[in-house]
Amino acid sequence: MPEEMPVLCSKMEPYRIRVVEPLRRTTVEEREAALRRACYNLYALDADDVLIDLLTDSGTCAISSSQSAAMMRGDESYAGSASFRRMEQAIRSLFGFEHILPTHQGRAAERLLIESLAPAGSLLPSNTLFDTTRANCLDLGVEPCDLPSPAFWDFDSADPFKGNIDCEALEALLSGSELVRIPFVLLTITNNICADLPVSMANLKQASEIAHRYGKPLYLDACRFAQNAWYIQQYETGYQSYSIRQLVAQIFALTDGCIVSAKKDAMAQIGGFLAVRSADVARAARSRMLLTEGFVTYGGMTGRDMESIATGLLEGIEAEHLASRMETTRYLHEQLIRQGVPVIAPSGGHAVYLLANRILPHIPASEHPGHTLAVELYRMGGIRSTKIALQPTCGPYQGQSLEFLRMALPNRVYTHRHLDYVAECMGWVCRHALELRGMRILNQPRLLGGFMAEYEPVPAPMAVSA
Ligand code: F0G
Repeated sequence: MPEEMPVLCSKMEPYRIRVVEPLRRTTVEEREAALRRACYNLYALDADDVLIDLLTDSGTCAISSSQSAAMMRGDESYAGSASFRRMEQAIRSLFGFEHILPTHQGRAAERLLIESLAPAGSLLPSNTLFDTTRANCLDLGVEPCDLPSPAFWDFDSADPFKGNIDCEALEALLSGSELVRIPFVLLTITNNICADLPVSMANLKQASEIAHRYGKPLYLDACRFAQNAWYIQQYETGYQSYSIRQLVAQIFALTDGCIVSAKKDAMAQIGGFLAVRSADVARAARSRMLLTEGFVTYGGMTGRDMESIATGLLEGIEAEHLASRMETTRYLHEQLIRQGVPVIAPSGGHAVYLLANRILPHIPASEHPGHTLAVELYRMGGIRSTKIALQPTCGPYQGQSLEFLRMALPNRVYTHRHLDYVAECMGWVCRHALELRGMRILNQPRLLGGFMAEYEPVPAPMAVSA
């Protein structure tokens, strides 16, 4: 018998590291003081006071030597920049849309799409809108309508496609009196609010068929498109022989356009775009973008940023890169389970999601169990994470309110040893969880409150004297 070949070759990182940043260690007392200064909002911390930053994967990735080289040739022309042409070409070749509108980040693309297609009073159905999309809707008088899949609510099942839209609920909505209020359907891939789980090709096909049968376009919020394609390739029957590029082409062929934050799978530090098939939609959105984003060939980005996106998009779909990306998240998921931490199964693409209500059963939703955990994880271990809230305001799950703790992994930044430490700390927090008290909000802005809210710990109940 030949000796078995080593297997770790396929699991190890497909890169080496030549630029590093030192980490700054702090004491528990220093972090307690930092928390008080930040009014217990982790977004208000100085990044220098954070040891391991799992707040987001957005714009926090390590750039590659190819991206860095491409950025050197950034063409900063106000109009007709060669860097825009290169980015436009990369997007067209991947997604197949004719019209590409650059924006400074994803939420600007969201706003352009909603402003161009959805008048005030519209209703926007989705598998689940991300916070910024939801807030842009509300700000423009558009009612968000999240229809997450029933499968999502079984947090322990291994089914990866819990990011799906509930097609039965979508059909019921479109076949009823609300049809006239619906401008388009928007699917978020991967579904960040629902544990960053993917949407299956079958679900995309069905949603596309339903939307188009009722004369409604289908758009994608597609910042993590490569991860979604990877899940389809790995787990959906019939797609194993396709490359990620082929699957991306198949996904987008079902749709009319997309909004993309380039800060995630395109591994840029800033940037985004709106890409559409319709010349009319592009014309409407272009006239709007001049007001806030800038000229149509830069949209709030530098030439360097656009070069970084053009290169990052193609790196982001490489098989070895994606395998390593997903393996890293899966590793953290596995280490947390080993520590006895209740996590949503299976592991998400860019992040692991913890079931805050299982860890803190004594803290009601009104006292923010997800945020309470995030604050304690920072206090204990210097690790920054964030809460994610799911609160459907229509459809079968209307009225449900859940908070998760999300640990997001910046691309190519942390090693498995860092993640061992994260799991060790979270295990400690869980073992001491019943001693924790919830948090209450002192004030917050009307929209996207989580970014800016000020909190205080709920005081301990007064001891009753005998
Ligand atoms: N859509 C999704 C699914 C997102 O996750 C984000 C950002 C956006 C749109 C908005 O993009 O930040 O470039 O304006 N998500 C970040 C996160 C903030 O931490 O998940 P942006």
